[in-house]
Amino acid sequence: MTTVENARGNPFLEGNLAPVTEEVTAFDLEVTGTLPPELDGRYLRNGPNPLGYVNAEKYHWFTGHGMVHGIRLRDGKAEWYRNRWVRNNDVAELLGEAHPPSDWPADHGQFAANTNVIGHAGKTFAIVEAGSPPIEMSYELDTVRVSNLEGTLPHAYSAHPKRDPLTGELHVMTYYWGWGNQVQYLVVGTDGRVRRHVDIPTTGGPMIHDIAFTQKYILVFDLPTIFNLEAAMSGAGLPYLWDHEYDARIGLLPREGNADDVKWFSIDPCYFFHPMNAYDDGESVVLVAARHQKMFDRERRGPSEGPPTLDRWRINTVTGKVKQERIDDRPQEFPRINESLIGLPNKYGYTAGVGKHFAQDTLIKVDLESRRTEARTDTARYGYGEPVFIPRDGATAEDDGWVMALRLDSETQTSDLALFDATAITADPVAVVHLPARVPNGFHGNWIPGAQ
Ligand SMILES: [Fe+2]
Repeated sequence: MTTVENARGNPFLEGNLAPVTEEVTAFDLEVTGTLPPELDGRYLRNGPNPLGYVNAEKYHWFTGHGMVHGIRLRDGKAEWYRNRWVRNNDVAELLGEAHPPSDWPADHGQFAANTNVIGHAGKTFAIVEAGSPPIEMSYELDTVRVSNLEGTLPHAYSAHPKRDPLTGELHVMTYYWGWGNQVQYLVVGTDGRVRRHVDIPTTGGPMIHDIAFTQKYILVFDLPTIFNLEAAMSGAGLPYLWDHEYDARIGLLPREGNADDVKWFSIDPCYFFHPMNAYDDGESVVLVAARHQKMFDRERRGPSEGPPTLDRWRINTVTGKVKQERIDDRPQEFPRINESLIGLPNKYGYTAGVGKHFAQDTLIKVDLESRRTEARTDTARYGYGEPVFIPRDGATAEDDGWVMALRLDSETQTSDLALFDATAITADPVAVVHLPARVPNGFHGNWIPGAQ
């Protein structure tokens, strides 16, 4: 199904970044250890898995067709594993299927929905940034439709909507090259409909991968990886490149404010895909993110511009001063937290260690107050993907719960879903669900509780 030409030479198609070629359905998976019976739901994870002919010379990791992997847990058992390509027109054609139903006109772009998969308002969506709409999937990961959120989505969505734990609403920063120098902020209500959008002018067309917010502000990351017309005209896989001249800045939009209310703060040039969290501290805003020195400058096939570190910025909203400090210089990415603290002060974060070309490495827990980290030491055998924190029912301590991550067993070349006590991530896993297939390194996943 997948033909790769010249795969060697493109690191984003090698090792555990090589695509799998089959959709698999398996029931009653083998479990080592004990799955907590209260875990009733699905762990879903999306990632690029190109289908059909792939020209390795031009292939950019961010553009591979989306494939969602899912594991259903209930009553202490792992009921099923499924992996499914996310059908857009291109994937459907390559699989010899009819186009998926779409809420959009035929000329609306719908490239690979390959970056994240979320549950919201009782629905499951595979999602991506840069102008492509969300693709609704069924509970069992069949593609349902290319969605416009019941007619409420103006145009573009994002791979990183963030849920406000206090309201249940999603905050979403979107961008699209066709808008020129602006981005668009959305609020999606608990009913799954967009209730508000704000167009925010920027100085170029920045790639804004994610969002952060505090109780007072929405953070706008106007960083120097910018839409490049020349690259687009010459057929680049992803026409966003590092601009050495661009002013790197963070905008603070008051929660219910408009574009005119945004205050901008310049920072030292860098790029981050992923904030870990942000919160207010008096007149300051604190932000923690996985910082890259730059992005898509020398290496234009995927992120690889030096090791990402975990950094903290403190923006004084009155004096305009910004302080930056390193929390941990171990190369790491995919930061996650106890999501009941998004936008609020938090102490712990969980990340995946990464090597060159985002090779998945270890599982890390960070204490943001002491700046101490703990990391697993079994990386000679296992490569860990993005960790997801699941709170225990009735938990009061921030790290009372589990950390869940897909990992590759390099000895068997199969993957498993490992569950750790979040207070003891270096100890043996609480449970391991053995999967019948390799899961390539991908992007983002979530634990989506519930039977629908
Ligand atoms: Fe991301």
